[in-house]
Amino acid sequence: MTSTQLSIEGSIAWHERAQKVIPGGVSSPVRAFKGVGGTPRYFVRGEGSQIWDVDGNQYIDLVGSWGPMILGHAHPSVVSAVQRSAALSASFGAPSPNEVLLAEEIVSRVGGAVERVRFVSSGTEAVMTAVRLARAAASAAGGTQRNVVVKFAGCYHGHSDALLVQAGSGVVTLGLPNSPGVTPGAAQDTVVLPYNDLSALEELFATRGHEIAAVITEPTPANMGVVPPLEFTDTNGVHLNFNDHIRRLTSAHGALMILDEVMTGFRISAGGWYSKYIAPDGWAPDLFTYGKVIGGGYPVAAVAGPASIMDQLAPVGSVYQAGTLSGNPVATAAGLATLQLCDDSLYATLDQRAAQVGSVIADALTAAGVPNTLQSGGNLFSFFFTDTPVRSFSDAQTQNVAAFNAFFHAMLDGGVSLPPSAFEAWFVSGALTDDDVTKIGRVAKVAARAAAQVIGA
Ligand SMILES: Cc1ncc(COP(=O)(O)O)c(C=O)c1O
Repeated sequence: MTSTQLSIEGSIAWHERAQKVIPGGVSSPVRAFKGVGGTPRYFVRGEGSQIWDVDGNQYIDLVGSWGPMILGHAHPSVVSAVQRSAALSASFGAPSPNEVLLAEEIVSRVGGAVERVRFVSSGTEAVMTAVRLARAAASAAGGTQRNVVVKFAGCYHGHSDALLVQAGSGVVTLGLPNSPGVTPGAAQDTVVLPYNDLSALEELFATRGHEIAAVITEPTPANMGVVPPLEFTDTNGVHLNFNDHIRRLTSAHGALMILDEVMTGFRISAGGWYSKYIAPDGWAPDLFTYGKVIGGGYPVAAVAGPASIMDQLAPVGSVYQAGTLSGNPVATAAGLATLQLCDDSLYATLDQRAAQVGSVIADALTAAGVPNTLQSGGNLFSFFFTDTPVRSFSDAQTQNVAAFNAFFHAMLDGGVSLPPSAFEAWFVSGALTDDDVTKIGRVAKVAARAAAQVIGA
């Protein structure tokens, strides 16, 4: 179902113009609504939990720019930090204090696992840098060249060539698992395994462990829908989850572990997924990647880790990485103002709101007879319109996309903006109100009936 009861003439007109000058009319593919059908909305304003399109339609925002808008839109502290910094110049292309302050804030939040932070402008760049650094560090430590990077099907780590192999996010939404333009040379050093498949990982390390530079993972994949790491119990009754096993195997074979916290970093807790779910178990990955929240809606991302590895980056070491706008003073001011408001009380609110929204949606779907599975990783969550839990990318293919799309459009018509894809996480902000949750529940009842019609429930 792609028709809408709202007046969206303005969005339709902008999308026609956009398609004449921008491929598909969009600067990032999922925004084009190809996965759900219909016309994307063109937005002009946001405040708190609400956003407005060019036609004046108002929506509760559960996309949050795909994660960065953790405080809601146009938070006064972030707006004034940006205004103050922008008035002093947009960019110097030279060191400036804001990037140091933001790096100090990140270091203080993650404890000893992060001693150095190198800023870039997107998560893609951060991961690209982390992979280069990991290859160099693992090769130097082992004394032989290690080229292989292991990733998991359905995880998305940005659009650099080496990682655009069986990726999630827009790649799965559009059904383009392996992009043309990625050379066999770039793809041959990337090994893709099924997520949560411990035997496959153990077997790979047993046969090719000496070639592996790094394993990269999302701590809870959230780009094929949310898929938490499974727990495995060994013959001695010891419980270790999939992340624990990645660390155990990489350490044993001289490979690095890259924890891609671009989505989860500083969204799940004050120190990201790592501080809440990994640090208590006493281990750390070798490198982290961050993005989204650390820019508060502006282009900031980072690779981070211990000095012993990070100082292999130029100019201290010989691994090259650079950027004209890296550590931009305005963007880092926005990130710092955002992080300073990300305290324990905000994380408690996010957890509560995620649980509330998940529960009103699940109730509505269940009442309408629509099979549904709510999957969560901290305050990130998504719905699979199926009865069975999803543990991997191949399980995620059981998603009932037609039912999701009917639900999505009815929610949008009712004034609730969800991610325009059946395979993306939903994002709550600290600005959501009790009234918003009530409205989401009310609209979900109508939307669930639309989904029920599609599946004939
Ligand atoms: C886990 C993860 N890594 C990397 C990226 C790429 O970040 P960016 O879109 O800023 O390039 C994303 C984007 O969604 C992501 O979710």
